[in-house]
Amino acid sequence: MITKQKGTYDVYGLDAKKRKYVYDVIDAICEKYNYTYIETPIFEASELFHRSVGDSSDIVRKETYDFTDRGNRNITLRPEGTASIVRSFIENKMYGNLSEPVKVYYVGPMFRYERPQSGRTRQFTQFGFELIGSDDVLSDAEVISLSYNIYKLLGLDVKIRLNTLGDNESRNNYREALVNYLKPNIDKLCDDCKERININPLRILDCKVDKDSEILKNAPKTLDYLNEESLNRFNKLKEYLELMDIDYEVDTNLVRGLDYYNHTVFEVIANIKEFGNENVLGGGGRYNGLVEMLDGPSTPAIGFAMGLDRTILAMETKETKFDIKDNIDVYIMYGNDEEKETASYILQDLRLNGFIAETDYMNKQFKNQFKSADRFKAKYLIILKNDDLKDFKVTVKDNLTKEEELVNINDLVDYLDMKL
Ligand code: HAM
Repeated sequence: MITKQKGTYDVYGLDAKKRKYVYDVIDAICEKYNYTYIETPIFEASELFHRSVGDSSDIVRKETYDFTDRGNRNITLRPEGTASIVRSFIENKMYGNLSEPVKVYYVGPMFRYERPQSGRTRQFTQFGFELIGSDDVLSDAEVISLSYNIYKLLGLDVKIRLNTLGDNESRNNYREALVNYLKPNIDKLCDDCKERININPLRILDCKVDKDSEILKNAPKTLDYLNEESLNRFNKLKEYLELMDIDYEVDTNLVRGLDYYNHTVFEVIANIKEFGNENVLGGGGRYNGLVEMLDGPSTPAIGFAMGLDRTILAMETKETKFDIKDNIDVYIMYGNDEEKETASYILQDLRLNGFIAETDYMNKQFKNQFKSADRFKAKYLIILKNDDLKDFKVTVKDNLTKEEELVNINDLVDYLDMKL
């Protein structure tokens, strides 16, 4: 038997219904915020991720699925969505008419070669959105507010973990101060951190191994290295978040794992005891340099992405309600070929008129068709009998009260519309 690959999974049955429900909630709220749906390819030129997510990020160094295709091209399965959206923004010249920011959202599979564990897989579904073309702090607040409200609508209690890296000048000053502080202490940190000090020193701040060490607790803080403009931005953002009643806390150790960020960085945190690191349901931030870095015109942008699998796991742990429809409107029953023919067009008619309708495809006896109807939790049964069909009538039975009525076939849609 061929089995699925490590770190991948099938989604079916109730899990698929839960996922569809979460999609629908997200879809609906994105439309309210006036974001439009976008799709980009699952594989891209490897160079795209080297230049955006960054050669110094853990993702590009250790986690990408890279291969050479039959045309000898270097290809990578996308580990995240932002780089592809920015590539598409540039390639399709969406910057042509930037009197409004481009606001897009996406959902789809992403691939990272990680050690699989609960809430962390090698293929996972990410939902994300990007706002490209505005540097206004209100757009930072909008992106955080949409991220926050998605979870609220899904019934989860979450908090925003917020920090700022400042502009390039602030970030560089901070990086220098951090390296100067860490270098004499680096032997006391883990092996990964010893490597990070040369390639990506900011990542040491959110090292999972050393997170409680005194060295990291006493490290210089990003906020102390912000220039005036960056500090004003950050203060303005906090003001907006308070006006919008968004629960947030500043965490100066939050730096995020991708290289493209500046100014605002944030994560959405669930407070679930058994979750550990998986409490980070999603993350995002501003990436004002990325469009230019990928050869587009200098364009500010900010965005967010969340893992759907982790979100659903959080909802299950918290026993949050999934609003799932698990019953059908009508089950059509028949006993012979002639009745079956009538069933075929009634079925067609009902479905085209918006009802969820089902029938028997297994040549079942009548009594077993009743059982099927119950399994489908049908609200109504339509029972076809030749005697009634002579008068163009069928029996409609309320499956709860067991009351029956003879209804003309031409009146079925109106009758069910009234009842359902
Ligand atoms: P990220 O923090 O790398 O950000 O990923 C966002 C979310 O994707 C994570 O918080 C987590 O929920 C989910 N995720 C990541 N890796 C895995 C995995 N192996 N298994 C399951 N879920 C996972 C980004 O990807 C950025 N593109 C976010 C962004 C958008 N920044 C600006 N715009």
